[in-house]
Amino acid sequence: MKILIVGSGGREHALAWKVRQSPLVKEVYCAPGNGGTAIIAENVPIKETDIPALADFAASKKIDLTIVGPEQPLVAGIVDYFENKGLRIFGPSRKAAEIEGSKIFAKQFMVRHRIPTARFQIADSPELAMKIIRSGEFLFPMVIKADGLAGGKGAIICNNLKKAEETIHNLMIKKQFGEAGERIIIEEYLRGHEVSFIVISDGTRALPLVTTKDHKPVFDGDRGPNTGGMGAISPSPHISRELFLEIMDIIIIPTITRLLEERRKFCGVLYAGLMLTAEGPKVLEFNCRFGDPETQPQMLRLQSDLVEIILDALEGHVLSREVHWSERPAACVVVTSGGYPIKYETGKKITGLNRAESIPGITIFHAGTKIEDGNFVTSGGRVLGVCASEPTLEKTMEKIYGAISVINFEGMHFRRDIGCER
Ligand code: AMP
Ligand code: GLY
Repeated sequence: MKILIVGSGGREHALAWKVRQSPLVKEVYCAPGNGGTAIIAENVPIKETDIPALADFAASKKIDLTIVGPEQPLVAGIVDYFENKGLRIFGPSRKAAEIEGSKIFAKQFMVRHRIPTARFQIADSPELAMKIIRSGEFLFPMVIKADGLAGGKGAIICNNLKKAEETIHNLMIKKQFGEAGERIIIEEYLRGHEVSFIVISDGTRALPLVTTKDHKPVFDGDRGPNTGGMGAISPSPHISRELFLEIMDIIIIPTITRLLEERRKFCGVLYAGLMLTAEGPKVLEFNCRFGDPETQPQMLRLQSDLVEIILDALEGHVLSREVHWSERPAACVVVTSGGYPIKYETGKKITGLNRAESIPGITIFHAGTKIEDGNFVTSGGRVLGVCASEPTLEKTMEKIYGAISVINFEGMHFRRDIGCER
């Protein structure tokens, strides 16, 4: 088979790495890919949002299966476009992807179907938004979210009225995220442990992947602004067997079933970002794709063939085969450019990669890297994901931090407390 992977992050490098191990696969292409995917696959210089060009490429290369990493092309309808042209692609349709594309749709869907989530109000004007934050209905901290996609930066936690007013101003008047902030959600702040609960759905059933915990804030101790993810460990240390079944029962299965009933059949990866509150698990958000960096430790632990699983899902029988996972924990620590997620420089030469990668048990997935004159240089905010899977979480983290200590580039930053559970 020939496989095309759409995207350019660490998640896509991990997917390409896993797919390449499948005996079914002969060729792997990544569009546009990164410095790491260039080594294990063929990079194609087409942007992930250029849907017609991606479809033309898939048709001309006779690609057998396209796997989509990021949300933007899914929300824009890449799956409908490919399917109309008779091209096989894995991911939800535009209508199903709205579960991520519109937070207001997702919230109203959860209310309609009694799927537990934070209490909220919707505002379609700055005046209404100001009225809601001053009404006393929500205590501080409160959370303000843009309705549309904002690259993972659209949820702002506001500790006081001043910050809430400023956030409304930025989203709705200054239009910091463009149209995405024309309507907003104001919601109660939930306390608890966060978990990424990710399943592969065939439209009616769900195959749960091993659980993960993402670390979103940029600095140790969960300080600083939220990022796309600074590291992930698997399994989540906070999910018992009982809680796992409860999440499937009251969140995952109802979501898939109700989407089907609402003619938004969800075939693809459904990612529920959950807060484990004292009142039980509640949905913070849904994503319509694999997580980044959650995919990196998940692919290290997956022992079965990802391509077979995806083909099963596309054929409507995702639960037909036994899927095997390593019992060992796995983790990924993300190394970023200094200043990420706000302002950072790129084009920095990365040294020590070969040495780090030659440490037995270390796998490095690239994100914002490219090859220039035979060297890897930085080209984005999140640069590398250094991963391992050892008999214990402690040993896993020791190995990863040992490998990071031999990597260097100007301004490099990473969290030193991934996997340290408080
Ligand atoms: P979202 O894009 O909705 O997942 O939000 C991004 C991050 O903001 C989440 O992963 C949480 O860490 C945090 N967050 C979002 N909503 C809430 C909430 N209601 N209470 C507490 N934290 C939240
Ligand atoms: N790591 C968070 C996400 O993939 O959305």
